[in-house]
Amino acid sequence: MTGNNLAIIVLAAGQGTRMKSRLPKVLHPIGGRPLVGHVLTTATRLQAAHIEVVVRHERDQVVSALTADYPDAVFVDQDDVPGTGRAVQVAVDALPEDFDGDVLVLSGDCPLADVDTLSAFLAEHRASGAAATLMTALVDDPTGYGRVIRDADGDVDRIVEQKDANDDEAAVREINAGMYVFRASTLRRYLPQVGVDNAQGEMYLTDVPGLLRRDGDRVAASVVADVEVTFGVNDRAQLAEVGRRLNARIVRRWQLEGVTIIDPATTWIDDDATLAPDVTILPNTQILRATTIAAGATVGPDTTLVDCEVGEDAVVRRTDATLAVIGARATVGPFSFLRAGTVLGAGGKIGAYVETKNAEIGEGSKVPHLSYVGDATIGRGVNLGASTITANYDDVHKHRTEIGDEVHTGSHTVLVAPVRLGAGAKTGAGAVVRKDVPAGALAMSVAPQRNVEGWVEKNRAGTGAADAAARENSAE
Ligand code: UD1
Ligand code: CA
Repeated sequence: MTGNNLAIIVLAAGQGTRMKSRLPKVLHPIGGRPLVGHVLTTATRLQAAHIEVVVRHERDQVVSALTADYPDAVFVDQDDVPGTGRAVQVAVDALPEDFDGDVLVLSGDCPLADVDTLSAFLAEHRASGAAATLMTALVDDPTGYGRVIRDADGDVDRIVEQKDANDDEAAVREINAGMYVFRASTLRRYLPQVGVDNAQGEMYLTDVPGLLRRDGDRVAASVVADVEVTFGVNDRAQLAEVGRRLNARIVRRWQLEGVTIIDPATTWIDDDATLAPDVTILPNTQILRATTIAAGATVGPDTTLVDCEVGEDAVVRRTDATLAVIGARATVGPFSFLRAGTVLGAGGKIGAYVETKNAEIGEGSKVPHLSYVGDATIGRGVNLGASTITANYDDVHKHRTEIGDEVHTGSHTVLVAPVRLGAGAKTGAGAVVRKDVPAGALAMSVAPQRNVEGWVEKNRAGTGAADAAARENSAE
């Protein structure tokens, strides 16, 4: 049904004035991808012989944002002539001259049209034998959309843009969704006849159906059952609305795959993320980019994972993590900050107020409280005492810390890198470790404690501390 006689044209040349943004509209992201990326993902799945993306506004930025992810797409530059009609015309001109299949036109700002909807739409067009088929929808509020005007027999007569509509036309609630199938030959014949004599001074693609009708050709309309697939993004309010709907779909898809999601409204999952059955997601959690979560893991509440890998039965609470690997049965959080290159082994722990970066933490090893661990390799069964810090930066270079298996550090140990602690080594509380510690050694660097008796009573007479000390000392 798809294949060699299908070309897909994705319109992405417009500025998106109503977004009031430096970023081209079609590059605004939802679900971890630019708006137009969703359209291209769907286009790729339809296996067309040609996928063309029409660009103009900030074309280099748009092209470089998409080329790597969509290698099958060909970028076509629109010239100075504005309008969707001109955009499609330059794309058709870029197709091989002998291409005479169907052309599916999609908008870069309508990301919710899915593969099933578009396959059905193509099938309907092919079955009808019409020269063109429009996707339309019946909506409560048609503001901003082109209106579909039908004749007395109920056939499509023409499309009228909002800005060109009279009151009767403006009252029509059937809208043009901006997705169409045309025969390539139809576009080659009719686009040159489209002018710019309208309220916006643009070449409207939406003039083509009227021209076909004038010549006695039939234009079919496919009214979608689910209006949502036609929703476009023209301003930031619609960006949020379309983003929310995309997220709701993704959440539901994973729920049906066996994931418990307690609060869909506050759970955000990007399109590229993967969740296994029996994962539990607690409220206020963002599972972003290519994050994967294995079976039985619990993530959240209040957690953001970007490109992370979470192992089976791991627990990650109130955590912010990017490019981190969390092993099976490991626990992370609350209030942990895992930066790129953190690899926590199976059964390990990263606890409260701990920041990690470029750190391999071995199986069963724990960094439970108030630590910074950066540029470190840590063996198995290690316990870093509260507030152990790797001092990895000497103002010029970053250095590594190596910690062998079964090392235990005392509270408030500072490991001044580069430094190595051999297997089974220990450090005393407050140790500042500047030299390697041999396996099994105890490293202490703090001077022995000296008590100056009576100091407070003598030097702080009259304070609460001096009075309290006097009371305790006289009671003895
Ligand atoms: C368009 C339709 C309207 C329809 C609506 C559906 C026209 C004239 N109007 O209006 O009937 O109801 O979509 O969402 O087609 N673009 C280009 N080159 C241009 C202008 C636009 O590539 O010169 C691209 C834009 O980047 C965008 C798409 O075409 O992705 C639609 O343009 P937009 O300005 O959003 O059209 P609408 O006013 O929404
Ligand atoms: Ca639009």
